[in-house]
Amino acid sequence: LYGLETDRFGRNVHYYESLGSTQKEAHQLAYDGAPEGTLVVAEEQTSGRGRLGREWHSLSGKGIWMSLIVRPDLPPQQAPQFTLITAVAVARAIEEITGITPEIKWPNDVLINGKKVVGILTELQAESDKISSLIIGIGMNANHGPEDFPPNVAHTATSLFIEKGEKISRAALIQSFLKYFERYYSIYITEGFKPVRILWESYAISIGKRIKATTVTGVITGRAIGITDEGILKIEDDEGIIHNIYSADIQQT
Ligand code: BTN
Repeated sequence: LYGLETDRFGRNVHYYESLGSTQKEAHQLAYDGAPEGTLVVAEEQTSGRGRLGREWHSLSGKGIWMSLIVRPDLPPQQAPQFTLITAVAVARAIEEITGITPEIKWPNDVLINGKKVVGILTELQAESDKISSLIIGIGMNANHGPEDFPPNVAHTATSLFIEKGEKISRAALIQSFLKYFERYYSIYITEGFKPVRILWESYAISIGKRIKATTVTGVITGRAIGITDEGILKIEDDEGIIHNIYSADIQQT
C-alpha cells in the first residue's frame, strides 16, 4: 500500500486473489502470532461470512473484503466497542474519499441513503479474562453496479459507485480507513471511549428515534436513547423501562 499514513496498521498485508474468507485466514494468522495491525485482503471470497451466521456476497474485484488483527490489552467485555470504533473509521474514510457522509446503524452497518454499503463483523480470541486478539472483518460494496446485487438484497444494499456515480480507488479507501482506525484506536486507549462515542453518535441514525430491536430473547420496541461508554444500546420502551441491548437487529418503526 503506497502512501500509507500509519505507524502500525496495514504495515503487514496478506493479499489474496481468492480466499474462502479473510476472516477465517486472519483467525489462523492471529492464532499463529501475527502482530497487531496485520491486514488480510482478498479480491474475492468464496464463502464470506456475515453476522449471525449469514452468508456475505463477496464478488471478485468490486468490493473491499478485509480482516484486521487488533491486540488491545483489554478484557473481552470491551470487544463490542471495537465494532463502533471501526464503524466510525469506515464512515470517516468514506467521507474523505467520496465526499458523501454515510450514516451508522447500531451496531455495525454503514448506510448511504438508507441502504447498506458496509458490514462489520468483530470476532474475539480470548484467554480467560483478556483479549488475545480481535479479528475485525469489513465488507464494503465499493464498485458494484446495480446488476451486481442478488435480487433479495437489491432493495437494501448499495455501493459507493452507485451513490457517487464514479468508480472509487479501493486502495485509497483502505489507506484512509487504516489512518482513521489507528487514530481513533489511539484516542480510545489514551482518553477512553467517550470521544469515540461522541463521534459515533454524530453519524448514528437511530438515536432519538423509535426502533424495533430483534434480539435472541425477543423483540423490544421503544425509543433509542443512546449508547453507553461500553457500546451498549439503550432503548426506553412505552412503559418507561430502559433496556440494555448487547446484540440485535434494528429496524426504524
Ligand atoms: C455483516 O453481517 O454485516 C458483517 C459482514 C462482514 C463481511 C466481511 S467481508 C471480510 C470479512 N470476511 C468475511 O468472511 N466476513 C467479513
